[in-house]
Amino acid sequence: MYIDKIETRDLFLKKASMDDVYDMHVNIWSKDETAKHMLWQPTRNIEEAKIRMLKTIEYQKNNLAYLIYEKKTEKAIGFAGMNEIGYKVYKDCGIAIGPEYVGCGYGKQILKSLMDYCFKDLDANKIVCSCRRENKISKKLLLSCGLHYSHTLPKTDIRDGTDYLLDIYEISRVE
Ligand SMILES: CC(C)(COP(=O)(O)OP(=O)(O)OC[C@H]1O[C@@H](n2cnc3c(N)ncnc32)[C@H](O)[C@@H]1OP(=O)(O)O)[C@@H](O)C(=O)NCCC(=O)NCCS
Repeated sequence: MYIDKIETRDLFLKKASMDDVYDMHVNIWSKDETAKHMLWQPTRNIEEAKIRMLKTIEYQKNNLAYLIYEKKTEKAIGFAGMNEIGYKVYKDCGIAIGPEYVGCGYGKQILKSLMDYCFKDLDANKIVCSCRRENKISKKLLLSCGLHYSHTLPKTDIRDGTDYLLDIYEISRVE
């Protein structure tokens, strides 16, 4: 249904495999500093990571969603994907890489490759991404990839009941 693998200069976006459970646990899923920007709970041990990996593999079968692999280490370091939320409108369902790998330009490679795939192969008309108001790096990533601010949604974090602002950014095919 969707392409199995996307290649960028330094990365592969590929479907998850049980072989990568340890790397995903160590590099990203167990990291509080990554989870805080999103809506998941960090994994506390490898058993929890195995359960998460089974769910991830199942989810990725029919969705535009991948793990991120760094070419030079061949390790799984993150995840990313998009959902079709309306006719030819795609929205990110979370892009994240482990703390040791941030700030190397990987986020831009991931988002640009997904945008490219959506616009060119899936004939998308619009791409929408969101980030919490305080997530400055994510905001820079979205602006850097050509998206522009659209609107803000008030949200409540289901993990602890705190309120936050979710800023929505978008880019249309004609831009
Ligand atoms: C958000 C995230 C995916 C960005 O990926 P990244 O590889 O770190 O970002 P890049 O290196 O591609 O840089 C993207 C932009 O952020 C800037 N940036 C990166 N790290 C930064 C830092 N520590 N401080 C300030 N700016 C920074 C870059 O300069 C670049 O902006 P520019 O093009 O204007 O120069 C990554 O940081 C991450 O996974 N964070 C944790 C999870 C998360 O917040 N996900 C997004 C919510 S959906």
